[in-house]
Amino acid sequence: MNDCKAKTWPAPALSPGQQQLLEALACHLDDEAGLVELAADFQAEGHYPLAPHCYSRSVLYRHPQGAEIMVARWDAGACTPTHGHPQYAFVLVLQGRLQMEHFVATPKGLQLTGTRIKNAGEHIYASGREGRYDNAIHRVTALEPSLSLHIYSDDALKGICFD
Ligand SMILES: [Fe+2]
Repeated sequence: MNDCKAKTWPAPALSPGQQQLLEALACHLDDEAGLVELAADFQAEGHYPLAPHCYSRSVLYRHPQGAEIMVARWDAGACTPTHGHPQYAFVLVLQGRLQMEHFVATPKGLQLTGTRIKNAGEHIYASGREGRYDNAIHRVTALEPSLSLHIYSDDALKGICFD
């Protein structure tokens, strides 16, 4: 059973340069190549809390129209519920290794379509339907202690949970 209930934390203090970078990232939600290029300059400075057997969410930026940028710190073995996303979702592994299990919704329930491992420096990007929170359904498991940067077009906690 997955009893990891991730908590959301305030961001550590960021330099003006990093704040500018977050604003730029939030303007490229529909541009995968732009996100990849900009996110390469992201520095995970400061403290991101460790949640034993789980993961912590530190929200770095929220745009009034919904965009959210956060860093997740993962303990080894931590696992998310199976969940969907708002229209745009970008995840870059900064440290460690994450397993992503991808699903599609069918009339008979969720069906696993593939499992991918993402190492530090690798990303996933998903562009789905506007106004929906069941896009790009997946479950993430940290295969080792990890850190990842997440950029969404809306509050990620609105993503629908299927567990
Ligand atoms: Fe996700």
